[in-house]
Amino acid sequence: MMSHKSNPAPALAAVVEDCPPGNFPLPNDEVRIRPQSNTDLDWVEKLQAEVFGPGRFARTAFRVRERFAVDPSLSLVAEIRGRPVGSVWMTPISLSGDNGYLLGPLATDPAFRNKGIGRALVREVTKKGMARNGVRFVLLVGDAPYYGPLGYELVTPGAIIFPGPVDAARILVHSKGKAMARELKGPIAAFVTE
Ligand SMILES: CC(C)(COP(=O)(O)OP(=O)(O)OC[C@H]1O[C@@H](n2cnc3c(N)ncnc32)[C@H](O)[C@@H]1OP(=O)(O)O)[C@@H](O)C(=O)NCCC(=O)NCCS
Repeated sequence: MMSHKSNPAPALAAVVEDCPPGNFPLPNDEVRIRPQSNTDLDWVEKLQAEVFGPGRFARTAFRVRERFAVDPSLSLVAEIRGRPVGSVWMTPISLSGDNGYLLGPLATDPAFRNKGIGRALVREVTKKGMARNGVRFVLLVGDAPYYGPLGYELVTPGAIIFPGPVDAARILVHSKGKAMARELKGPIAAFVTE
């Protein structure tokens, strides 16, 4: 039989709406990861401009994204209470004929840092990317202490050729098996479609 007891959730939700975001943790500060929509694009671009600055266009990873378009179906947004707070993109690429993705940019609104949003985005987009047909790896340029616990490891130094300078200690990969991480090599090329 259904209970007719009143539910306290609406009252809490009303309180939450009145609170400025990011000031203190609330019990329903749950992070929801969802696909990016067209209406998010301005916000995502502003966030990337804010956290990476004008230098972002000179980054080597940006050059990869210039050559091979970002996959919109793997552009994800994290939101808290309906407010977008984080974003991640993926670019389809290949290495020596093996298909995969380049992860990035990853960014969290500075007002919402250290709540697990970045890690949740990396986990979700990696899982979704690796589940795609024929995908064998997700590559990124980032800090090993951050991405290591999320299943990313260093590739063989000098093996992967980017279209610009990259610090070898920041080239990380999530792949199907340890051997693959060591064996990936060659220039970043277009995703191979049959
Ligand atoms: C990196 C970034 C996405 C993390 O977002 P976030 O939502 O705060 O991340 P999480 O809450 O999941 O993780 C925070 C933890 O990671 C740590 N961390 C953040 N950046 C780190 C880095 N570059 N290296 C190592 N640890 C890092 C934090 O100190 C924190 O540690 P704690 O859990 O021990 O307190 C965010 O700081 C950001 O947007 N930075 C600017 C853009 C950037 O550098 N993007 C990544 C480039 S690939």
